[in-house]
Amino acid sequence: MKDIFEKIKTNLGPIGEHAKESHGYFTFPKLSGDINPHMDFRGKKLLNWSLNNYLGLANHPEVRQADIDGASRFGLAAPMGARMMSGNTDYHEELEKGLSKLVQKEDTILCNFGYQAMVSAIDAIVDRHDVIVYDAESHACILDGVRLHMGKRYVFKHNDIADFEKQMDRATKLANETGGAILVITEGVFGMRGDQGKLKEIVALKKKYNFRLFVDDAHGIGTMGPNGGGTGEAQGCQDGVDIYFGTFAKSFALIGGFISSTKEVITYLRYNMRSQIFAKSLPLPLVIGLLKRLELLNKHPEYRTKLWDIANALQKGLVEAGFNIGDTNTMVTPVYMNGSIPEATNMVIDLRENFGIFCSMVVYPVIPKGMIILRLIPTAVHTMEDVKYTIESFSKIKDKLYGGHYQADKIREGFAQKL
Ligand SMILES: Cc1ncc(COP(=O)(O)O)c(C=O)c1O
Repeated sequence: MKDIFEKIKTNLGPIGEHAKESHGYFTFPKLSGDINPHMDFRGKKLLNWSLNNYLGLANHPEVRQADIDGASRFGLAAPMGARMMSGNTDYHEELEKGLSKLVQKEDTILCNFGYQAMVSAIDAIVDRHDVIVYDAESHACILDGVRLHMGKRYVFKHNDIADFEKQMDRATKLANETGGAILVITEGVFGMRGDQGKLKEIVALKKKYNFRLFVDDAHGIGTMGPNGGGTGEAQGCQDGVDIYFGTFAKSFALIGGFISSTKEVITYLRYNMRSQIFAKSLPLPLVIGLLKRLELLNKHPEYRTKLWDIANALQKGLVEAGFNIGDTNTMVTPVYMNGSIPEATNMVIDLRENFGIFCSMVVYPVIPKGMIILRLIPTAVHTMEDVKYTIESFSKIKDKLYGGHYQADKIREGFAQKL
């Protein structure tokens, strides 16, 4: 019989297979210093466009102080146990109330991790008679939640409403046969392309089909809508979003997540979401820190305005400089270029080492062969100077890419020896 570890020796997986050349630089890079647009990487200060610190709260002095105060008052352990058993506090409930108000829902449940929250909520809501209909470019946490589902699922082409209807016809037929119901799952803001889910169109189709809508708005909470209440608020259809998910890992600059809905649905989730019933509750210092972040998010709409000013200037400048930023209609800014993987790695090395700019690179197999995406994440703490410098630098690397400069293997090879 084989050893279960045998395959691990020969197959590190689609990303892991490049670990030898990428670890510590392209994957698992170590950024240090306070979280802001200028951080240290391998001994140099770089202009950083890779963190989802959208509102700039991560290093806000009041946030830093609240984090310190929470930890010194309560320690990191409290409360012990799951919410249901021994881990509930007034602070947890106060935060849930505040979040419900922000996203215009009756009730909210806090979750220890955003990813786990999505997986576990999907698992709790559907049974084997039910049918899930979901967007093809959904985040991994939705896909994992769908994988747990014992019943049927239909996937619709990304943001394609005609295909959505086609899948809904199939799902409706099946649910009528099984006696189950339909759960539709999509995202508010797609984090890779930056386009919004077509929530308004999907909600409008409730007139034609019978379903409930679950929206993962990890990127939209705090950034979208006049009050930062998310993509449903921005599109004027939050009432039609039956279950709303937000993470604390982006605008809130912490960890954890939450799900909001009617009192009835949240009560059901409190007693049926396995990842919360059988896991320790969010530590109090995190909850105290989150209350401060929520207070700042509500009190300072200008942080959101600043984020959008930076995002709009960056996107306008890139388009004027001839870049393709695809169909983003949010702050997430992907820059699409064409080239091989070696060219992409050479270009990113040049960008980091010679231009002092740090951003994420996406290549095959995440996107089609021959395509390169450099993804820029604007925040409220970037400056117009950062924007100007980045557009100038990007224009220079684009000329070098299309002039064949990055084809030379020696850049990468010479550099690999230094890693
Ligand atoms: C769309 C989306 N959903 C869910 C998550 C998971 O959230 P968390 O990081 O809080 O676990 C992320 C985070 O990357 C995300 O982008």
